[in-house]
Amino acid sequence: MNIDGKAWRTIGLEAGGRSVWVIDQTLLPHRFETRSLRSLEDAAAAISTMVVRGAPLIGVTGAYGLMLALQHDPSDGALAAAFEQLNATRPTAVNLRWALERVRDLVAPLPEAERAAAAQAEAAAIAEEDVAMCDAIGEHGLAIFRELAAARPPERQGQPFNVLTHCNAGWLATVDWGTALAPIYKAHRSGLKVHVWVDETRPRNQGASLTAYELGQEGVPHTVIVDNAGGHLMQHGQVDAVIVGTDRTTRRGDVCNKIGTYLKALAAFDNKVPFYVALPASTIDWTIDDGVAEIPIEARSEREVTQIQGQLAGDCKVAGGGEAGGEAGGQLATVQLTPTGSPGFNPAFDVTPARLVTALITERGVAAATEAGLRGLYGSL
Ligand code: MRU
Repeated sequence: MNIDGKAWRTIGLEAGGRSVWVIDQTLLPHRFETRSLRSLEDAAAAISTMVVRGAPLIGVTGAYGLMLALQHDPSDGALAAAFEQLNATRPTAVNLRWALERVRDLVAPLPEAERAAAAQAEAAAIAEEDVAMCDAIGEHGLAIFRELAAARPPERQGQPFNVLTHCNAGWLATVDWGTALAPIYKAHRSGLKVHVWVDETRPRNQGASLTAYELGQEGVPHTVIVDNAGGHLMQHGQVDAVIVGTDRTTRRGDVCNKIGTYLKALAAFDNKVPFYVALPASTIDWTIDDGVAEIPIEARSEREVTQIQGQLAGDCKVAGGGEAGGEAGGQLATVQLTPTGSPGFNPAFDVTPARLVTALITERGVAAATEAGLRGLYGSL
């Protein structure tokens, strides 16, 4: 997708495959910078500090992390240790384990001398497949949006089709296109008038920082709202559909996504607003039935709750009077929100039970959020 009119992906090889470039998402939307990952440690740190984030992109970064580890030491011991280190970086998104297993299982039977090259080819294949899956999700989601838009009453025809999304499940969370945002990009490009309500997504503000940035760069009309505004908008008929991504989908169709998704699903259910979840096959965990009971929920630092990051506005007031304009304006800063000593708690994901999900939009088509629905698309995968 585009940044300043130039097509970008989120990750790629450089230096003849000796390192991997990624977009540093901790600096967005204020600074666009890439950084190089040259070692297993670099890859693990990029995932855990959320330089890269989003379930599919975490998976691809993990796969390249194994490649970097094997370039340094292709032994069985190093492979196992690198797998463990990368797999421990973020526990909720199953794509990470899926991608790591795929690379490990491919290279483990090979002679040591061939392992790094094989890992590189497999990681690149995972990245390409991710692009293709997101592209296909976009087409299936677009068909749904078209149907819903056409089914609106005559007085609403011609008005923008209002979609609400939570977190960032756009191209920055994948390699390209995104999952939940892919149908939105396709709708916009195909001439369907679409407008996106962007949940800010506290505490890390992936919506306000990343989704709004992506949509702005693509020229998609959007409005950032606080997380608590969604229910109100739905009550007043201002949301035609909700679409989100998922970090892990159980075989019965429960979906685990960014904290706050569950509350949006409840509000959508109460207001008869369709609630869609977009996902590639790599986020399905066929070993799990009950998402609430079985999915490990990452607890991140309380500082993400008690503090907030942003760019100092030119006219921002500072303690003791005055403004932070001039030299300070434009600097990235972290500020404290809570009283000193008030603890914070930061579960990063929640589980939306399948009964609240209107349908799952996958690269293979649209399915009911049930085991039968998923099996209908994927058989016994
Ligand atoms: O903590 P993050 O930013 O990695 O969380 C990302 C999400 O929750 C996304 O919605 C999810 O990974 C699906 S991305 C296509």
